Amino acid sequence: MNTILKNGQVYNSKKNRFAFLDLAIKDGRIAQIKKGIRAGQHDLIVDCKGKHIIPGLIDAHVHFREPGDEQKEDFLSGSRAAAAGGVTTVLDMPNTNPPVVSGRVLAQKRELAGKSLVNYGFYVLGCAENADQLSLFKNIAGIKVYLGSSTGNYGVDDLGVFAQILEYTPGLVVVHAECGHLLRYFAKKYEMIGMHHRMRPNVCAQVSVADACILASSFKKRLHIAHMSTKEEVAFLKMHKTPQITCEVSPHHLFLNESFFRKQGNFGKMNPPLRYEEDRKALWQAIKEGLVDLIATDHAPHTKEEKEQDFRDAPCGVPGVQTMLPLLLNAVHEKKLSLADVVRLCSENPAQVFGIEKRGQLSVGYHADICVVDLKKKGTIRNEEQQSKCSWTPFHGWKCTGWPVMTMVNGNVVYRNGAIDESAKGVEVRFRDLLS
Ligand code: DOR
Ligand code: ZN
Repeated sequence: MNTILKNGQVYNSKKNRFAFLDLAIKDGRIAQIKKGIRAGQHDLIVDCKGKHIIPGLIDAHVHFREPGDEQKEDFLSGSRAAAAGGVTTVLDMPNTNPPVVSGRVLAQKRELAGKSLVNYGFYVLGCAENADQLSLFKNIAGIKVYLGSSTGNYGVDDLGVFAQILEYTPGLVVVHAECGHLLRYFAKKYEMIGMHHRMRPNVCAQVSVADACILASSFKKRLHIAHMSTKEEVAFLKMHKTPQITCEVSPHHLFLNESFFRKQGNFGKMNPPLRYEEDRKALWQAIKEGLVDLIATDHAPHTKEEKEQDFRDAPCGVPGVQTMLPLLLNAVHEKKLSLADVVRLCSENPAQVFGIEKRGQLSVGYHADICVVDLKKKGTIRNEEQQSKCSWTPFHGWKCTGWPVMTMVNGNVVYRNGAIDESAKGVEVRFRDLLS
């Protein structure tokens, strides 16, 4: 059966604008985009009057927790949250238990991800043990390196090891850039006051981003900086960013600052931490100026019970895959950015940065990963509606104008008006080899 989306405004990636067109889907791919497509007798017609049709979002940074931490999330629950948030592809981080450091664990993860409702790709963790083996992994999003410790304690403090990782990685290296040595110094210095952002101050990220950029440039490698969070990183990248270097920001750093941590405690504890208002403003300005390549959630769920522990014991991370799009659509409503910007930052650029084949655009021949949004719809983000196993969100109670109303993955309707259909599963995406 073919599906035809009618009467909506369809995003045209080549022209960067919307037009009233119909969009036909056949065998999971976009078959036609034009005015007045005639429907056959058996075709499913979806009336998109008053709605905008955009490519499904590609969230390049999620922690779906399998294997090992299924009480927090699994590929089914995480992908339900993704689908409800208009996200059709996720790239899953390797700090699971066990971590993805070998072909064996990667194969295990590929099997576990079979239950995902959205498409997926995987990172491999770069560390001292596998640094000289990194060219052996095939069809991966990239090598993830923690330059300081975060959840799971997989930090690579030794820049010599990082250099080796860069040398042996044929494709993209993605860094969590907070300098391990400085983190230890500030954690000790401020441990008594229990202020997460004071224990991991801006300078930790600033130094680490500089190290990573200098080394990646020296080895002529592609580098992607995860969750840029400080005005100092923005200033550094303004001066030193090259076409080989890309960067992302996360919604929690765009919409929250350290005052949220002071009010909500561990529910606002993540790495990198929530920063000051001036940092938040610098991130928005960096988006405006085109410095930021993409927005990715760093969806890092932990249960309420885990978060309710003492500050020292509570794990770092907040969920985000379901709330990114409503928050950004509300920002569109507030004229902080355009819907075309959202498409660029959340669909087109992630596909380009990671070399994902035939996704991230509405073009004939591309996979039918599609999100239909209603820019006028008003609603409130609620804990009770979160599909993530953790069932809380830092944005509980936030009112948004602009919501995803339908999500299609490979041509299958997975989410529509609050209901999730689990009958069709996502697939592993294909990455083009990014050798430069
Ligand atoms: O806050 C965070 N949570 N930062 C990370 O780097 C890891 C993540 C997690 O896995 O919980
Ligand atoms: Zn992360």
